[in-house]
Amino acid sequence: MTTDATTPPTPTPLTPTVPARATPAVVLNGLGKQFPGTSIPAVEDVSLVIAPGETICIVGASGCGKSTVLRMLAGFEQPSWGHARVAGVDVRRPGPDRGVVFQDYGLFPWLSVAENVAYGPRQARLPRAEVRERTARVLASVGLERVSDSFPHQLSGGMQQRVAIARVLANEPAVMLMDEPFGALDALTRTEMQHELQRIQREAGITVLFVTHSIEEAVYLGDRVLVMAGGTAHGTPGHVREVVDIDLGPVRDTSSAAFNALERRIDALVHRGNAREDRAA
Ligand SMILES: Nc1ncnc2c1ncn2[C@@H]1O[C@H](COP(=O)(O)OP(=O)(O)O)[C@@H](O)[C@H]1O
Ligand SMILES: [Mg+2]
Repeated sequence: MTTDATTPPTPTPLTPTVPARATPAVVLNGLGKQFPGTSIPAVEDVSLVIAPGETICIVGASGCGKSTVLRMLAGFEQPSWGHARVAGVDVRRPGPDRGVVFQDYGLFPWLSVAENVAYGPRQARLPRAEVRERTARVLASVGLERVSDSFPHQLSGGMQQRVAIARVLANEPAVMLMDEPFGALDALTRTEMQHELQRIQREAGITVLFVTHSIEEAVYLGDRVLVMAGGTAHGTPGHVREVVDIDLGPVRDTSSAAFNALERRIDALVHRGNAREDRAA
């Protein structure tokens, strides 16, 4: 082919003209777990597709398998059935794309706040300057700059939980897995942390799975609430009872009629009996 000055070659487009449909952040597909030496599955057939940036709260009576679902997604437990996928990739082991925050903060007591936060990026062998920059940015974003040289035992529970969240954020995860993270905090600190989490989640666009005992917290934070039921203590595997849409918009008034109606509905779902025959209902 010949070219001349008047007919420049057509440039190859760098981006496709039709955008691909967004990959879901998380896909749970028929996820189930039976622990060795037990007679019935702890969790059975959990399926859910979660969009990027969505917050899913998981509620249900003790022992219905909430933590087990989160642990499979974290890669701490292998599923017996089905699979968990994050950004289109099967979960096989723990990874920095999934940050985990538990009720007990899990901080390294021998490291300062800043060193705790820098730990993940260092493990990932990021260049020193980037580790420093990221640590400073994350500490600032969760209001920890002034305690960056303190050690965990010098901080209140709320501040320690902030450090735990900061440590996860420093890895820039796509998904944050939180198992009753605010359960040990006093009511005031808990409310403050809920606001903080909401802000961080929106700023960073992170997808959040959040297990809680508090139905109010679930309705306050969740775009959807996954209600689980059953559990080996009831002679039935833990399973999804219902997924409730929280169509309240971004600003939520916990004393509004719509908020309270959703709380009552979820409370009734959580406390409905767990007999085997319920499953057909
Ligand atoms: N490692 C394990 N080995 C045996 N059984 C387990 C293990 N982990 C959890 N279970 C059982 O699985 C069920 C679900 O537990 P879990 O996911 O912790 O429930 P939840 O978080 O909803 O309270 C419970 O009956 C629990 O005893
Ligand atoms: Mg649990």
